Amino acid sequence: MPRARIVSTGSYVPERVLTNRELEQMVDTSDEWIIERTGIRERRIASEKQASSDLAYEAAKSALKRAGLKPKDLDLIIVASVTPDMPFPSTACILQAKLGAKDAAALDVNAACSGFIYSLSMANAFISSGQYRCVLVVGAETLSKITDWEDRSTCVLFGDGAGAAILGPADGDAGILSVRLHSDGSMGDLLTLPGGGSRNPVSKDTIKKRLHYIKMKGNETFKFAVKTLEKLVADTLAEFRLKPSDISLLIPHQANLRIIKATAERVGLPIEKVFVNIDKYGNTSAASIPIALDEAVRCERVRPGDYLMLEAFGGGITWASALIRW
Ligand code: ACO
Repeated sequence: MPRARIVSTGSYVPERVLTNRELEQMVDTSDEWIIERTGIRERRIASEKQASSDLAYEAAKSALKRAGLKPKDLDLIIVASVTPDMPFPSTACILQAKLGAKDAAALDVNAACSGFIYSLSMANAFISSGQYRCVLVVGAETLSKITDWEDRSTCVLFGDGAGAAILGPADGDAGILSVRLHSDGSMGDLLTLPGGGSRNPVSKDTIKKRLHYIKMKGNETFKFAVKTLEKLVADTLAEFRLKPSDISLLIPHQANLRIIKATAERVGLPIEKVFVNIDKYGNTSAASIPIALDEAVRCERVRPGDYLMLEAFGGGITWASALIRW
């Protein structure tokens, strides 16, 4: 079966920068604590008028331009997000209309921080099956809109942004070699947004209890992430009998610099081979990997023939990896 390859990438982050120093004025925290415990120095925040589809639109336009494609060339649009513009219509449908991608199919994927890799896997399957030839995958988040700005244990972590990739059929050795998707719903309570759905519909009570904001058991999530990501990366390498030294670049989900470093160390990858931009953007959930991928492509840290690995861990609980020959 033909495999898919990434034809082009694009990304967009809002202009507004929120620094750790500014957060010191908002909650009981410090620049030193945030840098030491997370590696984050600043994050981007969407304006009041910007929803996730607006960020997705900018990232998608940039990816289309770099591929030399028009919106009407797209067969399918997949948007990964935990911050859709609204429950329905899907953010992918809203994006389809904004782009004017008239006949493209469109759907959203919710796999939290693993959402981009889950979506990449779907794009790969649609292209491999021959159903579609040109698929746009976007990870887009405005986490600032679901962040409790009075909760210091979460508000220092998240940021807004969007990253996009256009996929088409591969020829030769290049393309997506393997995608591994995992979930464990029994651990879903590690990371939740409990209010606003059919379990706890919006009411004065849900708002009073601040159930419309992200809740996270940070320390438990941290420990589970490190253990799980080590095995995930090792399994992905073993599937293709690759050694860590065969990997040119690892692009991890940017949740915490300590998680990134611990995973790299445990699997035997020097940190120089790991793409890190968490200091600039914080955790942008489904957008973090495609933003990092676009930056890596633009600064030529990925070259034709390179083995590139993506890995993520997030709410659900979900975790996923992709091995790509560039
Ligand atoms: N500033 C200062 N002190 C703080 C802050 C803060 N912003 N936040 C917490 N603390 C305090 C705590 O109150 C605690 O104090 P205590 O010892 O007096 O009780 C102390 O710091 C340590 O708290 P921990 O939660 O144990 O700190 P930890 O080292 O675990 O770091 C963090 C917290 C950064 C949240 C970390 O656990 C983490 O990154 N977890 C994983 C996040 C993740 O990967 N999420 C998945 C993806 S997100 C998604 O899917 C949307």
